[in-house]
Amino acid sequence: MMNFNMSKTWLVAAIFMLSWQVNAQQIIIKAGQVIDVTTGQILKNQFIVVENGVITKLSNRAPKKQNNSQVIDLSNQFVLPGLMDMHTHVVRNLSKSFYDKYYQSPHRATIGGVVNLEKTLLAGFTTIRNVGASDYMDVALRNAVAAGEIPGPRMAVSGPSLGITGGHCDNNVLNHSFKEKGQGVANGPWQVREKVRENVKYQVDVIKFCATGGVFSKGTKVGQRQYTQEEMNAIVDEAHTHGRTVAAHAHGTEGIEYAIKAGVDSIEHASFLDAKTIALAKKHGTYLSMDIYNTEYTLSEGLKNGVPQENIDKEKQVGKRQRESFTAAVKAGVKMVLGTDAGIYPHGDNAKQLSRMTKFGMTPLQAIQAATINSADLLNWQDKVGQIKAGLFADIIAVDVNPLKDITSLERVRFVMKNGVVYKN
Ligand code: ARG
Repeated sequence: MMNFNMSKTWLVAAIFMLSWQVNAQQIIIKAGQVIDVTTGQILKNQFIVVENGVITKLSNRAPKKQNNSQVIDLSNQFVLPGLMDMHTHVVRNLSKSFYDKYYQSPHRATIGGVVNLEKTLLAGFTTIRNVGASDYMDVALRNAVAAGEIPGPRMAVSGPSLGITGGHCDNNVLNHSFKEKGQGVANGPWQVREKVRENVKYQVDVIKFCATGGVFSKGTKVGQRQYTQEEMNAIVDEAHTHGRTVAAHAHGTEGIEYAIKAGVDSIEHASFLDAKTIALAKKHGTYLSMDIYNTEYTLSEGLKNGVPQENIDKEKQVGKRQRESFTAAVKAGVKMVLGTDAGIYPHGDNAKQLSRMTKFGMTPLQAIQAATINSADLLNWQDKVGQIKAGLFADIIAVDVNPLKDITSLERVRFVMKNGVVYKN
C-alpha cells in the first residue's frame, strides 16, 4: 500500500501538472532559419514539433500532421531559443521614484512584479533569475507563473539577499531610531547559515549575497569587501549542501577574489577585475554576470528619476572600469552569462545589453550563448531550456533580421512562445 506521504506527493504532483499552463494540441512551427546556438549554424527550412509544452522534434522533414495540429508559420523568420537574463529585479519599479521601496507595500510591489514579468516575457525573455527580493515576493511570482496564473518567464529566485549590517544588502537610508534593517542581514558564519536555511525553507532556488559595497546603496564603497572569507565559505557551503547555487554581488577586486575562492557559481557585476581574479574565475569555472548596459541609463536618466548624487557618483566610478573588465574577461575566455540588473532600467529593455556585449568584445554568437546555453548551465537547467532541441521546453522566439549579423534585432522580438504557449505573434 502507498503510504500517506507518497500518496500526498502524488496528489501534489497531479495538481501541479493540471495547473501548469500547457497546450495539449500538437503545434508544428515552420521555421525558415533556426539558429543553433551551440555552433552558430543556421538550419534552413525546419519543422519544430511541440507537444505538451515540450519540443519533440526538430527536423527538415515535414512531420506527420495530427488532425488537430496547429501550424505556425515562421518561414521568413530567424528562430532561436527564448532568451535568459540571470540578474533581474522584477518587483516594484512602477513609479520612477528611487525611494518607492519605502512606501510601496510588498503587496503593491508584487503587483508591480506581475506587470514587469509580462513586459519581460514579451521582450523574448522566457527565463530569468531574480536576485534579491524582500518578503519572498519573488517566490510568490515564480509560483504564480509556474501555475499558469500570470504570464511571465520561468523564474529562479533568491528571496532576500544576504548581507552584513550596514552593507550593500542592508537598508541604510533611515536614521537609527527607525531600526531599519534589510531582511537578509546576517553576520558571522552561523547567522549566515541560518539565513540560508531560512531562505531554503521558504523555497528559493538560489542564494544571493553581497560580497562588497555597491552603487545603489547609501554609504557603501563599491570597491570595499564586506563579508569575510569565513562568512562567504559558510554561505556557499550551506547553500550547496541544500542544492542551491550561489550568486555573489561583487564589484571590488578583493570581494570578487574571496567569493570565487568560496566557490560561488556566479559573480554579479565583477567591475574591478584584474589578471589574478580573471585567472581565478577561469580556474574555478565561475560565471560572470556583468551588467554593462545600465550605466548608460543611470547616467542619462538617473538624476531625472531621483537617484541621489551619491549613487550617480558611484556609477561613474564603476561604469568604465566594468566595461574594461568585461573586455579583458571575454578575451581570457571566462564563462559569461547575460545579467542585466533590469529594474535599474525599464523592464523589457533587457536585450539592449546584448549589443553592448558585442561592442565590448564578444561576437554576436557569444552574446547569444551568454543569454541561452550558458545561462541554462548556470541554473543547472540544461535539460530544460537554452536550446531548440527535442526534450527541452518549447521556449522559442523569432526575429526578422539575423541576430548573428545584427544583434539589435533581438531588441525587436516578433514571436514569443513559452512552454508551448504563444504570447506574442
Ligand atoms: N545593483 C548594482 C549596485 O547597486 C548596480 C550597479 C550598476 N552599475 C553598473 N555599472 N553595473 O551596485
